Amino acid sequence: MKKVKVTLYGVGAVGSLIAKFLLEKEGIEIVGAIDIAKEKVGKDLGKVLGIGKTLGIKVSNDVNSVLSKEKADVAIHTTSSYLKETYPQIASIISHGVNVISTCEELSYPYLTEPELSKKLDTLAKKHEVTVLGTGVNPGFLMDTLVITLTAVCQKIKSIKAVRVMNAATRRLPFQKKVGAGLTVEEFRRKIENREITGHVGLEQSIAMIADALAWKLDKIIAEPVEPVIAKKLVESKEIKVESGRVAGLKQRAKGIMNGKEVILLDFQAYIGAEEEYDAITIEGTPPVRQKIQPCVHGDLGTVAMVVNAIPKVIKAPAGLLTMKDLPVPSAAIEDMRKYVKV
Ligand SMILES: NC(=O)c1ccc[n+]([C@@H]2O[C@H](COP(=O)([O-])OP(=O)(O)OC[C@H]3O[C@@H](n4cnc5c(N)ncnc54)[C@H](OP(=O)(O)O)[C@@H]3O)[C@@H](O)[C@H]2O)c1
Repeated sequence: MKKVKVTLYGVGAVGSLIAKFLLEKEGIEIVGAIDIAKEKVGKDLGKVLGIGKTLGIKVSNDVNSVLSKEKADVAIHTTSSYLKETYPQIASIISHGVNVISTCEELSYPYLTEPELSKKLDTLAKKHEVTVLGTGVNPGFLMDTLVITLTAVCQKIKSIKAVRVMNAATRRLPFQKKVGAGLTVEEFRRKIENREITGHVGLEQSIAMIADALAWKLDKIIAEPVEPVIAKKLVESKEIKVESGRVAGLKQRAKGIMNGKEVILLDFQAYIGAEEEYDAITIEGTPPVRQKIQPCVHGDLGTVAMVVNAIPKVIKAPAGLLTMKDLPVPSAAIEDMRKYVKV
């Protein structure tokens, strides 16, 4: 049986963690690596990953040459959060007849913000007989797919609440920066306003995915303003020191409103020094469901797992643009990848 061939599109923080995990796994072979970062282009992937050996794969910014040189079964795409930016990248992967698994947050439920691009991706994917999936730990699992799965034991549902609280100190540096750790409150507000930092992207997509699964017609989705969490004492990560009075991270909430009532509430908090870390889901209904994961699922480890575990399911899925709710029940693929998918 042939190995499952993977091309990396994006070798940043998450792409590198995924690459290192793939190198440990049986039955998988990395056949190409794409990135535009000057310090990476032209270098051996092993060097870029800092694993102390070369892999014979040069990181390239020439998308067409990488994708046509050796046909991959799947491309793992980890460049950016917004579909307007990633659309041409994803379209080029599809046009080479390669399946796509992407961590682009808007792609986790792209019909919400980009209905036209979603249609185009679906048509293109069907034409080239490949599957496109946006996934990750969140969006992709904790505040949507897991919530949807838990609703399976309910006969009636009044409301759903999901809360994720995490200590940003345990996460990769781009994430700590994205939540504003170390900034003054004024800097934080300015950077949020001019979109230099984004906060968490995906709460609205998660709400839309849950509503779609339940066939709830929401009146609207409200994303509340992103608020800073201010350090009450000195808190620090390996990379960032946050003095008392400065921003340790952020909190943000989004709500799904139906018939004038709040039926879905997602509450996301990520800051350095969070003492209690957890993922909690509460479903008010018949029967009620209360689920709490403690500590919260580690975001980076969880994202790497979600992406790699999705490989066999995506290879076997029907062609087109899919979301996590369209795939079979998610599960780990811990054995030799060839056992899950015959390539
Ligand atoms: N759904 C989830 O649960 C989840 C979880 C984790 C991450 N994410 C998302 O996944 C994405 C990647 O995260 P990250 O932390 O790895 O970010 P990162 O460290 O900034 O890595 C992105 C890499 O892609 C490169 N890149 C940017 N545009 C490109 C293009 N057009 N073609 C090729 N390469 C390009 C970047 O180069 P430059 O540095 O030169 O721009 C960088 O090397 C982010 O949007 C993040 O929010 C989602």
